[in-house]
Amino acid sequence: MSAPTHYATHANIAVITMDSPPVNGLGHALRRSLLDDFERALADDGIAAIVIASAGKLFCGGADISEFGGDSALREPNLPQVLNRLEESPKPVVAAVNGMALGGGMELALVCDYRFAGAAARFGLPEVNLGILPGAGGTQRLPRLAGVPLALEMITSGRPISVDKAQQAGLVDRRHNDTGEFLDAAITYAAELVDSGASVHSCATLSVDTTDLPDNFFADFRRSIARRTRGLYAPERCIQAVEAACTLPLAEGLQREGELFIECMNTPQARAQQHLFFAERAATKVPGVDPKTPVRNIEKVAVIGSGTMGGGIAMNFLNAGIPVTVLDLNAEALERGAEVIRNNYAITAKKGKLTEAQVEQRMELLTTTTEYASIAGVDLVIEAVFENMDIKKKVFTTLDEVCKPGAILATNTSTLDVDEIAAVTKRPQDVIGLHFFSPANVMRLLEIVRGKATADDVIVTSIKMAQAIKKIPVVVGVCFGFVGNRMLEPYSREASRLLLEGATPAQVDRVLYDFGLAMGIFSMGDLAGIDVSFLVREGIRDQIAHDPGYQKISDKLYALGRYGQKTGRGFYIYEGRERQEDPEVVTLAEEIAAELGIERREISDQEILERTIYMLINEGAQILDEGIAYRSSDCDIVYCNGYGFPIGRGGPMQYADEIGLDTVLAAIEKYRQQLGAYGEMWFKPAPLLQRLVKEGKQFKQYTVKS
Ligand code: CAA
Repeated sequence: MSAPTHYATHANIAVITMDSPPVNGLGHALRRSLLDDFERALADDGIAAIVIASAGKLFCGGADISEFGGDSALREPNLPQVLNRLEESPKPVVAAVNGMALGGGMELALVCDYRFAGAAARFGLPEVNLGILPGAGGTQRLPRLAGVPLALEMITSGRPISVDKAQQAGLVDRRHNDTGEFLDAAITYAAELVDSGASVHSCATLSVDTTDLPDNFFADFRRSIARRTRGLYAPERCIQAVEAACTLPLAEGLQREGELFIECMNTPQARAQQHLFFAERAATKVPGVDPKTPVRNIEKVAVIGSGTMGGGIAMNFLNAGIPVTVLDLNAEALERGAEVIRNNYAITAKKGKLTEAQVEQRMELLTTTTEYASIAGVDLVIEAVFENMDIKKKVFTTLDEVCKPGAILATNTSTLDVDEIAAVTKRPQDVIGLHFFSPANVMRLLEIVRGKATADDVIVTSIKMAQAIKKIPVVVGVCFGFVGNRMLEPYSREASRLLLEGATPAQVDRVLYDFGLAMGIFSMGDLAGIDVSFLVREGIRDQIAHDPGYQKISDKLYALGRYGQKTGRGFYIYEGRERQEDPEVVTLAEEIAAELGIERREISDQEILERTIYMLINEGAQILDEGIAYRSSDCDIVYCNGYGFPIGRGGPMQYADEIGLDTVLAAIEKYRQQLGAYGEMWFKPAPLLQRLVKEGKQFKQYTVKS
């Protein structure tokens, strides 16, 4: 293994180059090596200045997250020690920031006396996304160097800033003029600094300038981020750390930052969010599929169907600069669909997020057609027609006839059997499911459904394509509803049953919202459309016939034409965006309960939470056992990105790991007994859950083999 840093001298300039792929994560070995090289440069009287550079595309991705929770993160020299030592340097230190400087990587740049930056440099403190705060001085040094408003914004949002913005904020001292080698230019800059007798700085000599801060600045800031950060622990600690920077000298501020950092690190939320960081990356790795498999070119895309889903899907590609042809046999619908896309862009432009020119550029990439022959040459077709097997089969039969060899034929079905669809073509290896979530231009999740014949290069191409259009891909197997909707079924079933037993939609939704979900299940049902779930149920009537109460209220609402928000009435009554409880839903629940002999009672919030969330987890265990999901963390990615599951819980499976699988199992067994025949019918612990409890293991310790 090569050393994590290289040391070289150029006349009187020492260059320490970090070379620890993939991202120069500041793990113990890199910290040690960086500090040793630094001490060597200090000890050498022939050295007048030091440049810290990177051998990779990124400058530094920050602390090594995989060390968190273990002893290595604390092993000396820890990151604060290394950075404090660098800050004390009597010789000028130049950070040669060629690319991303994130977290501890940005904090490293901040302790340097000068920052020399290339065009690709970006600076960010994304720790809040990991449930923590910048713990190596970022909360104390950034407000000193760039002011409180920018520091607070960067630290609480985690969003990196461009090199231009960093320069405007005074964080970049010199830009590479893009001629010649970046490192050579950084060395030349360091030599100039030496020649001009440039001084060294320490943030300890700076105080935070609060003179221009309006009264109530922090209170107003808290209010402004309250909705976005609901239920999260770290953002408030980030604010407290910046407040400390405003009043305390650097050394004391650093100590306060350290305390707050530890407080955050020891929370289930930090574990959950760090779990999601690795989960998102793991989800792109498919057991048995070589990630280096050559991909197919995706230069032209067609979308079949110009409804809400088709339009939303098309927008993803237009946004990424990829031409899209939308096909609909109904010319009027097609025109309407194109108009909706234009309106969506107009709304975004009105908010100042797109220029008129950008809207036009995107619209120019869009063509519409009613003829299949016009899409013969595209590289990828995504079918987004009505959720009905016969219709989808017809579409795929035609696609098979017209599309060029090697085109990827994808279905956006949310529940149907991808293998059955593939079987109508002579090229099942080219068929895959690409399940976008509504609204498809907004939701980041993409379930990539791997059919039994789907070729490896189609899978790898789909993953790369998803990343190119900024989605979070998760590869899943074929079953009714795949991972997301399959897990949703028992969750939704229990919520619905609880209404018959005595809960109200508002109570159930409140419990789920307070748990952290973006919205309760009934609000979600009203938004997605009660007609949509009814039609899905039509396809599985034989499997639910044994439960006479199964989603009975929903069926009744469907029969009454109460489809949810779109008709102004569903589980709730809507007036514009305002919603009220609907007493008729309670009456309906009472009538159905009486008809079925279900005794109504007061339902506790705890019971609501356990019966909905634990059954979601139980189904996750079942699909993991069946190999539909490759890892429990894939289910978490699906739920956090597609179903509004709180990131602070890390997804249902991580939540189960956190509270203990034995707790989940015991509750399922309790309800099995307590709920009589109904419990017998539905509260069946997944065998994998039982096995893992027996072995004293967590979900994260279980991986499906290829
Ligand atoms: N620690 C450990 N591993 C890391 C890492 C880090 N900080 N950053 C990235 N990696 C790993 C990824 O897990 C991935 O590993 P696999 O290939 O095994 O899956 C690999 O590096 C490449 O990462 P990406 O696939 O994400 O590569 P990318 O080029 O798309 O993105 C990146 C690179 C922008 C740096 C992105 O990885 C990223 O955002 N990383 C996290 C940055 C971060 O949050 N830093 C703060 C760390 S906490 C901190 O620094 C605390 C402190 O104050 C002391």
